[in-house]
Amino acid sequence: MQYIVNGPFHPDKENQKIPSSDSGATARFMPSVGCSRLREAKSGLSGANWISGKTCMITGSNSGIGKAASVAVARMGATVVMVCRDAAKGESARRDIIVTSGAKSEDVTLMLADLSSLDSVRQLAADFLKKDQKLHVLINNAGLVLGDRRVTKDGLETTFVVNYLSHFLLTNLLLGAIRSAAPSRIINVSSEAHTAGHIEFEDLQAQKNYGGMRAYSQSKLAQVLFTHELARRLAGTGVTVNSLHPGVVATNWGRHSVGAMSVGLRLISPFMTSPEKGAETSVYLASSPDVAEVTGKYFDKKKETSSSPESNDDAEALRLWKVSLALVGLPDSQSP
Ligand SMILES: NC(=O)c1ccc[n+]([C@@H]2O[C@H](COP(=O)([O-])OP(=O)(O)OC[C@H]3O[C@@H](n4cnc5c(N)ncnc54)[C@H](OP(=O)(O)O)[C@@H]3O)[C@@H](O)[C@H]2O)c1
Repeated sequence: MQYIVNGPFHPDKENQKIPSSDSGATARFMPSVGCSRLREAKSGLSGANWISGKTCMITGSNSGIGKAASVAVARMGATVVMVCRDAAKGESARRDIIVTSGAKSEDVTLMLADLSSLDSVRQLAADFLKKDQKLHVLINNAGLVLGDRRVTKDGLETTFVVNYLSHFLLTNLLLGAIRSAAPSRIINVSSEAHTAGHIEFEDLQAQKNYGGMRAYSQSKLAQVLFTHELARRLAGTGVTVNSLHPGVVATNWGRHSVGAMSVGLRLISPFMTSPEKGAETSVYLASSPDVAEVTGKYFDKKKETSSSPESNDDAEALRLWKVSLALVGLPDSQSP
């Protein structure tokens, strides 16, 4: 079941206490009068003009990097479409984002979708297309790592679906709206972990051999291969697609990990960067004029860098594309 939540929210006190899922902060309300200019000035980011007034969908925007990216692009004057799976967490984050960015309530909307369900992704795309025919920026950000192997209701391994396959499907279903908004941008939040990944075509759903980081690395490699293949297919359309590593960021990521990984995460937690810092490369790719023409590349700390040799393998990217089409039930003729 899918809902669009877009209720009015009127912060009417200067230091309004906002329920927060992960910041716990008392946010200071910025008035939304002349908001776009004011927010651009406050953002201090050069991408403000490009993204101002444009529609930007961000998956996994109730927490961590996605929430921080939502605040940043809302501050630049973008209309943010949050995609979250939980109504209460999503609405609480929406209020935080409105207050922290100074955006108007109607400029931050919430759509609900469980990205572990392909039907839910189809419903999300249909609901968006009913309302909006243009999408200027899509940030495929939601993701997780799971200590134990879990299976979705479609019978697929959950990490593969949430991190990669749902975004593959969502992007394909929204491509008409993205193309008609060109120049437009698709951003895939991958990870440096992709370098340790390998696409196990003979055991894609990890039925024979499951490991949490193994599944995670494979899904993150799949995102970079997807970026590579989609950029090739969209060449010359005015739609760019890039992927990135956000850094090692203190978020809710890893909360489902177990054993050595969980211990390792606890040990490195003091050295992790903030969600705001972790969102910088996503926001840069979503808004900067510097990357208006750049496509098919991988970024770290707002700089183009090399992704793994496997992620640049044309044949593997095409093979994964075809396997993914079959898994989500899209005909080749409908893909770009
Ligand atoms: N943190 C890091 O150090 C790091 C490093 C490299 C890459 N990344 C990547 O950065 C991205 C953002 O992660 P984060 O660090 O910000 O972690 P986070 O705080 O846990 O945020 C992840 C977001 O994904 C959402 N999500 C998870 N499963 C979902 C589902 N089935 N349907 C819809 N949404 C779902 C979460 O929603 P709920 O709150 O409802 O679970 C949450 O909003 C991920 O792709 C992650 O792999 C993170």
